[in-house]
Order: sequence, then structure tokens, then C-alpha cells
Amino acid sequence: MKLMMVANLGRLCGLRPDDVIYTTLPLYHSAGLLVGVGGCFELGATCVLRAKFSASQFWDDCRRYNVTVIQYVGELIRYLCNTPKRPDDREHGVRAALGNGLRADVWREFLQRFGPVAVWEFYGATEGNAGFVNYTGKIGAVGRANVFLRVRSWWRRDVNLGGGH
Ligand SMILES: *[C@@H]1O[C@H](CO)[C@@H](O)[C@H](O)[C@H]1NC(C)=O
Ligand SMILES: *[C@@H]1O[C@H](CO)[C@@H](O)[C@H](O)[C@H]1NC(C)=O
Repeated sequence: MKLMMVANLGRLCGLRPDDVIYTTLPLYHSAGLLVGVGGCFELGATCVLRAKFSASQFWDDCRRYNVTVIQYVGELIRYLCNTPKRPDDREHGVRAALGNGLRADVWREFLQRFGPVAVWEFYGATEGNAGFVNYTGKIGAVGRANVFLRVRSWWRRDVNLGGGH
């Protein structure tokens, strides 16, 4: 059940069967295996795998395989931002990015340089029991609980509200 819940993340983020999802993340970890490959199975989408992440080859791969969705961890995006600028930086069909650990300043730079990619930053842990997704369109956000959940749940407390859980 957990596996299917995690594989469903892409669908929650609006990914579709006609998407081509590119993952360079290791498959011994739940992000690459369950969100990436599992998400492709779940959606019936196309999965593009690369054995090893390459910052210089990343966008060429996206163009070559008509990639529409990329998977990231924050550092991966930072490496992409650190590559030398190219005139074709915005020539790609990537419409969404799904991942976690993206710093707000890198996030902003990434959008400025590579164009309007919808960033679905999420928080979750393989052995955890709750997760968050940025659905607000706010740079730096990892999602938040709505007002009703906040009243009911013990897992979202601000320190200055005196939460001790
Ligand atoms: C990518 O899209 C182009 C244009 O639609 C198509 O000709 C090409 O075969 C596609 N490439 C792959 C790897 O699917
Ligand atoms: C998350 O935030 C970014 C940056 O503002 C935004 O472009 C993106 O659309 C947001 N994600 C979604 C799924 O709305």
C-alpha cells in the first residue's frame, strides 16, 4: 500500500500518461525507484533512465528523448545552474520538476535561466508517515498543512505555539 501511495505522487502533481519522465537518481532509493519508476508504472508514462547524472548532458538528454518531467534533488539543480550558460538553455520541453531539497535561491535562478518549469517540491521520508507538496506556487515552499489539518494534527506545531510532539 505504501509503495502505491508513493508511486501516486506524480499523479497528485498532475503528471499524465503522455509524459516522459527523466530520472538520474539512484534506484536503490525511494525517490528514483518509487516516485520515478513506480510513478511511470502507475501513470503508464514513459521513463527515461540514465545510469549516472551528468550536468553537461542533462538538457541534451531532455531534448533527445522529448522529456517533459524531470526528477531532482536540490543539489542536482544547483549543479545544473553551475554549468556554463548556453544559448539553447530554454530550448526544451520540460514542463515540470519533481523532487526535494531545492533551496529558494537556486530555485529562483533555475526558473530564470531554464524557463517556466512547475516545481513540485515535496517533503517526505521513506519510513515517515506524512508528506508535504508545494502546491502554492511559492518559491522555497515545501507545502503546508491547511487550517483544518493544523487544528487536528499533532505533527504540525510551531515552536512558539508550544508544540511538544
Ligand atoms: C521526439 O519528438 C520528435 C517530434 O515529435 C519525434 O520526431 C522524435 O521521434 C521524438 N523522439 C523520441 C526519442 O521519442
Ligand atoms: C511551486 O512553486 C514554483 C515557484 O513559484 C511554481 O513555479 C510552481 O508552479 C509551484 N508548483 C506548483 C505545482 O504549483
